[in-house]
Amino acid sequence: MPEDNDNPYLVSCSAPVNIAVIKYWGKRDEDLILPINSSLSVTLHQDQLKTTTTVAVSRLFKEDRLWLNGKEEDITHPRLQSCLREIRRLARKRRNDGNPDSAGLSHKVHICSVNNFPTAAGLASSAAGFACLVYSLAQAFGVEGDLSGIARQGSGSACRSMYGGFVEWKMGSREDGKDSVAQQVEPESHWPELRILVLVASAKRKPIGSTSGMQTSVQTSLLLKHRAESVVPRRMDEMTEAIRRKDFPAFAELTMKDSNQFHASCLDTYPPIFYLSSVSQQVIHLVHRYNRHYGETRVAYSFDAGPNAVIFTSQQHVPEFVQVVQHFFPPDANGEDFIKGLPVTDAVLSEELKQAVGLEPMPKGINYIISTKAGPGPRVISDPSQHLLSSDGFPKKTL
Ligand code: DP6
Repeated sequence: MPEDNDNPYLVSCSAPVNIAVIKYWGKRDEDLILPINSSLSVTLHQDQLKTTTTVAVSRLFKEDRLWLNGKEEDITHPRLQSCLREIRRLARKRRNDGNPDSAGLSHKVHICSVNNFPTAAGLASSAAGFACLVYSLAQAFGVEGDLSGIARQGSGSACRSMYGGFVEWKMGSREDGKDSVAQQVEPESHWPELRILVLVASAKRKPIGSTSGMQTSVQTSLLLKHRAESVVPRRMDEMTEAIRRKDFPAFAELTMKDSNQFHASCLDTYPPIFYLSSVSQQVIHLVHRYNRHYGETRVAYSFDAGPNAVIFTSQQHVPEFVQVVQHFFPPDANGEDFIKGLPVTDAVLSEELKQAVGLEPMPKGINYIISTKAGPGPRVISDPSQHLLSSDGFPKKTL
């Protein structure tokens, strides 16, 4: 941060959500958040899904404080503290190395963060949230370089949101976790035809959170052990290769198999964990029947620790596939827009295709679809009117 004076120094950034196509599930070190296997994800475009964070630094602040989606939260949470401590440590190192702009190190911060998607949508927001927090703090304290190892200590999957496009989180082998970092496999511009549809499922149970779910899986599931040791290493290579070659059928098959094995490991956990709902199962059947009808893999699904499906497909198949989803999950006629995000053109659904899919429709099973694509990593927001904190460093009234 530049010049030290009585006005808080403000910086705002945004960061993306990511969806893993090779899943992270299980830690070998709970404190440092070191995984039992590497993982690979696609960063989603921030035009549709993002977290925005403003950090204010001032010598007048008495303590570090945090507001999330308009509500003050407890900043003493150990994972938040890890991120703050690590950024301040790097800033101190920079100052000791003679960088004059790393001022204000002893100063307290105010942090304010919002998501542009409803929390009720059940989309994992911790990855975008921690990525945005770490990126913004780094900007505020003048810290540079790879910050994925710090974001990882907020939430494992957050390290992959530090980059755009296709991102690998290498599990690493060191005990101190220094080599457990994310790196870009390909930028978002690499595969422009690739489209992503988030199918927001309606019925929501309070599921088991990822952190405690994966802890029980590590303790009890032999399938998870086998997966981490013998399945994922090869899959990582195959997935990287499929992405490099833009080989959709190979990418799609690996994505679906990996999602299925993750959920199988959840079922193999004792007591078992169920994240998929009857709507999720219906989406799985729908995708396989759709692909079978065409005799090729045009569409893939992936599910995280919840019932929402994330669909991968090519731009050319989006209009028809959306019609299929709309037909088998008829939305509420008076409800909100069924399709949000990137515009989707109309398509006609053939009777032949409807019959080939042949499922019993589930009215209102899916609330809405967010249509998006791969996107860039975190960014600084240069327009000062976008700050979430006022010039005094407190949340703006409009939040
Ligand atoms: C199913 O990153 O939320 O989404 O490291 O405990 O914060 P913590 O877990 P988290 O787990 C994400 C699990 C997943 C798969 C993935 O994103 O790779």
